[in-house]
Amino acid sequence: MLHNDLFLRAARGETTERTPVWLMRQAGRILPEYRKLRGSLSGFKELVETPALAAEVTIQPIDALDVDAAIIFSDILVVPDAMGLPYEMVEARGPLFPTTIQSAADVARLRVADPHEHLGYVLEAIRITKKALNGRVPLIGFAGAPWTILAYMVEGHGSKTFSKARRLLYQEPALAHLLLEKITATTIAYLQAQVEAGAQVVQVFDSWAGILPPAHYTEFSSRYIAQICAALAPLAPITVFAKGAWWAVPEFAAMPCRTIGLDWNQTPADVRAAAPGKTLQGNLDPAALYGTRAQVKAATEAMLRRFAGGPHIANLGHGVYPDTDADNVRVFVDTVKAWQG
Ligand code: CP3
Repeated sequence: MLHNDLFLRAARGETTERTPVWLMRQAGRILPEYRKLRGSLSGFKELVETPALAAEVTIQPIDALDVDAAIIFSDILVVPDAMGLPYEMVEARGPLFPTTIQSAADVARLRVADPHEHLGYVLEAIRITKKALNGRVPLIGFAGAPWTILAYMVEGHGSKTFSKARRLLYQEPALAHLLLEKITATTIAYLQAQVEAGAQVVQVFDSWAGILPPAHYTEFSSRYIAQICAALAPLAPITVFAKGAWWAVPEFAAMPCRTIGLDWNQTPADVRAAAPGKTLQGNLDPAALYGTRAQVKAATEAMLRRFAGGPHIANLGHGVYPDTDADNVRVFVDTVKAWQG
């Protein structure tokens, strides 16, 4: 039995006594206990691939920040890894794929991964986390959207422009679709397995949505997100967070996702009008947490007011920045909890 089911109820579109709150990237470098554990290991991958440690890190923000949901500690890049394209996490630089996808032969070599065979460490981390949480808060599973995963597989690392990935869409659209289909098949099986293992809500992160023009977004991203939503909707409520793709809200409104995540450039009233009946999640500017405590409180209250009039899950408009003061995160969380909208 869940002791605190506020997040789950809001994610199902039900009204709640107060607005639930969690933060994207809440498990990670903002917490000293994370940095300590991380520093004792060989690297990020060791943490992600050791279920007991991943479970420990998943629960840290529940203890330290008292948020209303846990998100399984992993990364979106475990999916390409499982498909046969391994990533490295380079200290202070970010992800790197030593080999990238450039040709039809490269795509042909990738497998549609079996989550039980190739991502069993995440499923085991979910099972351990669920047991350890013992119903304190619901657990969120996640995956990257196929477009964002393609972007990393083709580009090989983070980029301001992802110009190699975007070039592929113009020069070899059929190949891009083949790759997106393989990623989508893997992602659907992976999210289904996460739900089976105990994830109660799943979130799809389309972090690089905003770099595509709208017509390309519809063709190369939202059509695959729609397939994921159709497959998962009967199993668990789904949240779609597509950073920068404000113009795609009507497309998400037509999908069986329950919650739409907003970045900080979006206006909640506009999204409510374009997606009636959906729960909205977001959307404080992560940089607002650099303010004084009084400023954090005021900015959080202003955000809560903008979401009035329908179901809301408070969050930031993107992941919490690593150099954010954890005390200010607590002010954000406590302000949401005290809010009498
Ligand atoms: O708390 C949580 O949200 C769960 C854990 C989580 C991580 N990555 C752990 C992580 C989640 C949900 C992600 C998703 C993820 N990973 C996304 C989508 C969300 C977003 O922020 O847009 C993306 C694009 C990635 C890829 C990725 N992983 C990058 C670009 C980087 C390096 C830059 C950065 O943010 O640190 C990572 C590394 C990463 N993933 C870290 C963590 C805690 C830091 C690694 C470390 O400990 O050194």
